[in-house]
Amino acid sequence: SNRVGLSINDSSSPAATVRSHESIKLHMKPAIVKWRHNETLSMKIRKQILHFLDAERDISVLKGTLKPGDIIHYIFDRDSTMNISKNLYELLPRTSPLKNKNFKTCAIVGNSGILLNSGCGKEIDSHDFVIRCNLAPVEEYARDVGMKTHLVTMNPSVVQRAFEDLVNDTWKDKFLQRLKSLNESILWIPAFMAKGGEERVEWVNDLIIKHHINVHTAYPSLRLLHAVRGYWLTNKVHIKRPTTGILMYTLATRFCNRIDLYGFWPFSRDLHQNPVKYHYYDSLKYGYTSQAGPHAMPLEFKALKNLHLQGALKLTVGKCE
Ligand code: CTP
Repeated sequence: SNRVGLSINDSSSPAATVRSHESIKLHMKPAIVKWRHNETLSMKIRKQILHFLDAERDISVLKGTLKPGDIIHYIFDRDSTMNISKNLYELLPRTSPLKNKNFKTCAIVGNSGILLNSGCGKEIDSHDFVIRCNLAPVEEYARDVGMKTHLVTMNPSVVQRAFEDLVNDTWKDKFLQRLKSLNESILWIPAFMAKGGEERVEWVNDLIIKHHINVHTAYPSLRLLHAVRGYWLTNKVHIKRPTTGILMYTLATRFCNRIDLYGFWPFSRDLHQNPVKYHYYDSLKYGYTSQAGPHAMPLEFKALKNLHLQGALKLTVGKCE
């Protein structure tokens, strides 16, 4: 038979990889499974997650709860601390950027190379709310990934990885252009998760203020990560360090009635054994470990795929019509 031979080196958790590949082979063929939204299940999941976290509250620390000079212990590196600077304080929202929000349809766009040649841009942009990760570029890839952005995440490491730590005016300019293109959307910066990003967060905050960048900044709460982990744990998914993608899905259940996922494919080959880039826009390789430590993407993927099979969310891993 035409076995899908995906490398098991893709992951920090090889056992999960092997198992998820087997079931991908059985279930992910679009022709076999006709997907249908299970609204009852979506509502049930929303309620379950609400026992652990409330996206409206946990999406960002608010102004009233901290003051400049306060000291924060990083979530992953408990022994290291950072200070709440004046700029960071200034950029904390007064009220939740998701207050009273509810959307019929949301798209969460992961960064897998599976998006290349997908032609999914229009479909992604047809959603009421579009979430993207780590300031991934859109313009050059619009046909495959769309242009709309309502919320975009930015791990501090992105400043280094994609913008050369703003070493000179060219990179600073590039970064500024990217920020300016976000107009009005939410820029979600996990500033309190892992040590090492403090300076980069400061640079970004400084640029936003100096250049009057029109974004709604948000800095996820300290309890978010534990809460997300807790939720998945009670569902027997042991995620040590949730990826941005699964964080976004977990948050989105609160304000999105229907959630469609694109660009989630943590494997180096597609279903036809063609090579797939780790990211659609850069040359990062599988096995790359971020500052936040190793992720278990295949394990998360398996959990998301199960939800897809039950109709709670829709995963697109091929071409769009
Ligand atoms: N993703 C995926 N398959 C890939 C790459 C990414 O499913 N080959 C999903 C993951 O859920 C990931 C999200 O897309 O969290 C965004 O990708 P990326 O920017 O690489 O996010 P992280 O790995 O979380 O960021 P970092 O490496 O900085 O920790």
